[in-house]
Order: sequence, then structure tokens, then C-alpha cells
Amino acid sequence: MSILRIETLDDPRLGDYRGLTDAALAKTRSRFIAESTVVVRRALASGAAPVSFLVDERHGGVIDELNTQHPDTPLFVGPAPVLEELTGFHLHRGALGAFDRPAPADLDALLEGARRVVVLEDVAEHTNVGAIFRSAAGLGIDAVLLSPRSADPLYRRAIRVSMGTVFSQPWARLDAWPDGIAALKRHGFEVHALELTDDAIGIDELAERNPQRLALVLGTEGAGIRPETLGAVDGAVLIPMREGVSSLNVGAAAAIALWELRAR
Ligand SMILES: C[S@@+](CC[C@H](N)C(=O)[O-])C[C@H]1O[C@@H](n2cnc3c(N)ncnc32)[C@H](O)[C@@H]1O
Repeated sequence: MSILRIETLDDPRLGDYRGLTDAALAKTRSRFIAESTVVVRRALASGAAPVSFLVDERHGGVIDELNTQHPDTPLFVGPAPVLEELTGFHLHRGALGAFDRPAPADLDALLEGARRVVVLEDVAEHTNVGAIFRSAAGLGIDAVLLSPRSADPLYRRAIRVSMGTVFSQPWARLDAWPDGIAALKRHGFEVHALELTDDAIGIDELAERNPQRLALVLGTEGAGIRPETLGAVDGAVLIPMREGVSSLNVGAAAAIALWELRAR
């Protein structure tokens, strides 16, 4: 029996659940936190290794399910106010799971045979990263690559917004950017920036050409794609908008572009 009633918040085994609202700290941790029963189930289904679970005592069904399926994994149970004091937020979705971070994917192996790749250049908001992963997974993207300064896909908010697709969608973090463009070109990718530049072509035009291998770079929320990146890619592509609107949210732009540019 691995159900453990929380007696004291000093228990060192609860360390994974402390200060969960600190995103910078989360990036340095060797574990990630899955939030909500659905996302915990998806993490388990992906083969991620659970270290422990933390469940609100009112969710008896979830406690039974996790304890039956993972009898050797510590399952901490306690009242909502105690869990809130521990984690720093109200745990209204019932369950949290702490999991070992998977080993980083090998970039060359990811790109081998891929036809559609998305690169996130310094996308800083966890909600945008999560939304882009969800679209990428749903729309058939073979790999998502992140520049070193992009937000962590395994931060709990990104995981939650992605609805757990960060576990199934292949991805890798690049060591350097825009130097990573060289690796994409070595693998035969046309690299295009999704950006509103004066010389950008319309997205329909690129979709019609249907490149065999296409990597699409998405820009950071504030400034958009860096000038040095624009100088290194094969071209820029834009989603035409009504006059007077400066840009779309990067997550919304990604969903439109990934659908339009899907491999055919
Ligand atoms: C919010 S925008 C950045 C700001 C934008 N460069 C501006 O001057 O308003 C963030 C990213 O979303 C994408 N994006 C948003 N709207 C777009 C559009 N209409 N066409 C192409 N890319 C777009 C680009 O990748 C852009 O770098």
C-alpha cells in the first residue's frame, strides 16, 4: 500500500511539489509536474516514469485508480488547504504527478525522415508553447525544435495547455540559434520564417508549392523573428490580415500556418 497521508509539510519526499509557481526553478529541476487527472493519465500512457502522485483527499476514484495501477509509487493524499500551502496554488483539478524528465531527443534522429518541422524562436509564454504543441501534434508536425531561450514545454502550465501532447509530440531543444538553421539545411529542409516582412510571400503561395521538407520558424511574442534569422532563412511567409491589425498571437498564427502548410 503506497497511500501516504500528509502529516507534515516538512516531509522531504514532498520536495517535488514545493514552489510550483516558479517557472525558472522548474526548468532546472530533474522532474516535471503533470497537473490534472487527465494530464497525469496521458503522462503515464506515454511511458513517463512516475516518482510520486499528490491527490486531493476528496478524489477517491483517482486515488483508487492510481494506487491500483501504480502500487509501488508513493501517493500522497491530503486536504485541499494543505495541498495549496505546499504547491502555492489551488489544486482544483484533483491530482498532480511528479515524473522524471525524459532524456533529450537526438536532433539528427528527429529530422531523419521528417517532412514538417516547427522552430520556436524565443517563444517565452508557457501558454503559447503549450498551444503550439497541441496544434503541432494535431496537425501532423514531425518535430518541434526550441531555441535555447524558448519556454520549457515541460513546465506544468505548458503541459496543461498542450493537454499532455508534449508527451507524444517529438521535440528537441537546440544548443544554439540561429546556428541550428545549418542542421535543418543539412537535412534538406527549406527553412521559412513565419513573419510579416515587406518581402514575405502569402502563405497560400508556399502551401501550393508544397515543399518536400519544410521547417517553419515562429517568432517571439514581442519583437517577432530576429533580423539575423531573417537573413539566414530561405524566405518569409505571412498570413494576410485585415488592415489596422498589427499581428496575430503566435499560437493562433501557428495553428493557421501548420494547417495551411501541412504535407500533402
Ligand atoms: C505577436 S507576433 C510578433 C510581433 C510582430 N512582429 C509585430 O510586428 O507586430 C509573434 C509571431 O507570431 C507570428 N505571426 C503573427 N501574426 C502573423 C501573421 N499575420 N503572419 C505571419 N506571422 C505572424 C510570427 O511568427 C511572429 O514572429
